Amino acid sequence: MRKTLIVGNWKMHLSTHEASLLAHRLNDHIEAHQDVEVVLAPSVLSLQPLSVQIDRRKFRLAAQNANEHDQGAYTGEVSFTMLHDLVHYVIIGHSERRLYFNEGLETVRDKVAACVRNKITPILCVGETHVERKAGETNQVLHDQVSTALMHLTSRDVQDMVIAYEPVWAISTFGGELAKPADVEAALKRIRLELRELYGDKVADSVRIIYGGSVDDQVAAGYLAVPGCDGLLPGSASLNYHKFSAIVAAAHRQHKQSRESA
Ligand code: 13P
Repeated sequence: MRKTLIVGNWKMHLSTHEASLLAHRLNDHIEAHQDVEVVLAPSVLSLQPLSVQIDRRKFRLAAQNANEHDQGAYTGEVSFTMLHDLVHYVIIGHSERRLYFNEGLETVRDKVAACVRNKITPILCVGETHVERKAGETNQVLHDQVSTALMHLTSRDVQDMVIAYEPVWAISTFGGELAKPADVEAALKRIRLELRELYGDKVADSVRIIYGGSVDDQVAAGYLAVPGCDGLLPGSASLNYHKFSAIVAAAHRQHKQSRESA
C-alpha cells in the first residue's frame, strides 16, 4: 500500500511567528506514523525557520510555488535551486496560481521540469473549473493538464511524484462546493489511466494521487476511503491544529483498518 500523504497548504497566511506557533501545536498533537507522511506548506518566509524547528520524523516541508529558472534577473522570485536544501516537495500548478497569476500549461510544465531537475518532488495540482465541469470537459482538462505537465519527464522522474486532484469549484477560495466521493473517484481513476497510457503500469501504480477541496476533519475519512486516493491536501482546515491533527489521525486509522482486514 502506498504511504498516505497529508499536505497542509497554509497559503498566504500566518507570520513567521504564527507559523512557528502552529508547527509547535501540531507537534504536540500529531504522532509519528510509519504509514502516514505529513507535509507542511507554509509561506516561503517560514520555510527556513521551520526547517530548523520541526521534528523530521513527523513532518516534511513543501513550498507553495517556485520560479522555473534556476537563477537570474527575476526580481522577487525564488528558484527551485534555492529551495533544494529546505523542502522535500513544491506545490506546482495550484489553481490559485493558474487563475490569479495566469500560469498556463507551459509554465506549469517548465516548473515541474525545474523541480525534478533540482531533485525536489513535485506535487502537481490539476482540476477543472465549474464552467468546464458543467460543459462535461473534466476528462479533457485532466488530460491536457497531466500530459503537458509531464511532457519532458522520464518514467523515473514521474514514479515518485504526487498529483493532487483539486477541482476548482470545490476549493473554499472559489465557492467550496463539497465534491461527492464518486466524483473524486472518477477523476482519480482518470488521472491514473492517463499515467498508465503515458508510462505504463509500474509508474501509474507508484504515483500518489491525493485529493484537495474543502477537506476538513468531518469529511476527511470519507475521501480517504475513495478507492485510489492516497492522501489529502487541506487548505483552510490545515490552519487549525485540531482539525489538521484530526485529519492526520483519520489517515492513520484508515491504514490501521486496512492492515487489520488484509
Ligand atoms: P481548502 O481546503 O481551503 O478548500 O483549500 C484547498 C486547497 O486549495 C489546497 O491546496
